[in-house]
Amino acid sequence: MRSLASESFSEIAATLRNEHKIVTDLVNKVSAATALVPAINRGDWLDNLKRHFSRLRVHINNHMAAEERDGFLTPVLELRPTLSFEVEHLRKEHAEIARWLDQIWNELVDIREDDDLLIGDTLHRIKHLISTVRHHEEREELLVSFVFSQDIGGHN
Ligand SMILES: [Fe+2]
Ligand SMILES: [Fe+2]
Repeated sequence: MRSLASESFSEIAATLRNEHKIVTDLVNKVSAATALVPAINRGDWLDNLKRHFSRLRVHINNHMAAEERDGFLTPVLELRPTLSFEVEHLRKEHAEIARWLDQIWNELVDIREDDDLLIGDTLHRIKHLISTVRHHEEREELLVSFVFSQDIGGHN
């Protein structure tokens, strides 16, 4: 079982930040692809968007599974059981984000380059999802920073 000494929690926080940098990089690629619908070469643009979104979907699902399996959620609960509401809320969001990614992906794969209305709607949904994921990740880092700073304060 993982020790909950400040040092190991510092590692947990550093690992989370590093994993979030990878997610952020993939999110930024999808965000860039949604910024403008080109008038020409739309087929290439759509292929590029699908490729980046597919990578993001796989990566976020792996990331969320890792957070639940051996990431920060359990150590936070062990150290601060009073934060169980926030931890459970993050877990619930994982389940919804996974479903949301699936729903958008299932629509995106069928979209053709001349589907103006459906492209507009899907981009809108992707932007909303991206904003939610960024907010989710920010809250996770704030939670870990908070617990870590409390832990140092309580032990030193
Ligand atoms: Fe998460
Ligand atoms: Fe995360």
